[in-house]
Amino acid sequence: MKNTQPIGIFDSGVGGISVMSHIQSLLPNESLAYVADSLFAPYGLKSKDVILERSKTAIDYLIKKQSAKLIVVACNTATAAAIQELRQMYQIPIIGMEPAIKPATKATICKKVGILATNSTLDSAKFSLLLDTHSGEINFYTQPCPGLVEFIEQGRINDTSMKNLIQKYLDPLIKRKVDTIVLGCTHYVFIRNIIENIMGPEVRIIDTGLALAKQVKSELEKFSLQNKSKGNYYSISTNSINREMKEIIKSITINLDFKFSYFDSWS
Ligand code: DGL
Repeated sequence: MKNTQPIGIFDSGVGGISVMSHIQSLLPNESLAYVADSLFAPYGLKSKDVILERSKTAIDYLIKKQSAKLIVVACNTATAAAIQELRQMYQIPIIGMEPAIKPATKATICKKVGILATNSTLDSAKFSLLLDTHSGEINFYTQPCPGLVEFIEQGRINDTSMKNLIQKYLDPLIKRKVDTIVLGCTHYVFIRNIIENIMGPEVRIIDTGLALAKQVKSELEKFSLQNKSKGNYYSISTNSINREMKEIIKSITINLDFKFSYFDSWS
């Protein structure tokens, strides 16, 4: 294993690029190879078995085709469904995402926290365990958000119908008077502004991207895998059939100069 090999990152689509940006800021020397399994998005309505299969396909690709030295599962849904099995299958370090429940319990003053995530994440055993660990005197209100990922994948972030859907999902949390909202899906980071505008300045919005980047940093240090040489690169590949995908990705990754490619075969 060479330290100059890239960190491999995957998600069901463009959501994990929000995580990639945090990793790039914190670890500017590292090369990053991102793969979006857009053809199979959303994962949030798929079974655990299908998500595990898709995750294996993405990781095999990142290891064999991109020579990844470490894998980031930049997807709460895939982490909840498959991280345990994946860690048993592969030798290299695998880091996953989970909704930032613990930071939310510290941030809330009125002890009411809303959690936005996919159906699959909220239904998972891993998430139930996470919630049980941190409940106690905090009231958690979970809100599945089917449809949001599809809009984001199509680059329709500012559509009126998108805004209406977000409002519909936030209404129950407004009624509960939550003062903290956890973004439990990496795609939702791209609609953070809209959520902030609807909820107002009093409500804290928490996502996990920076915490994950810090975890990547300490894992690289632990295994002495940091890239200390210059000449790094950023690549983003997708199996999407949408020929406007490069433009969509560019519109959400303002500070990243990346090499883009479409692929239709994982092998
Ligand atoms: N971005 C993903 C997550 O963090 C998956 C969304 C989906 O494909 O449904 O959960």
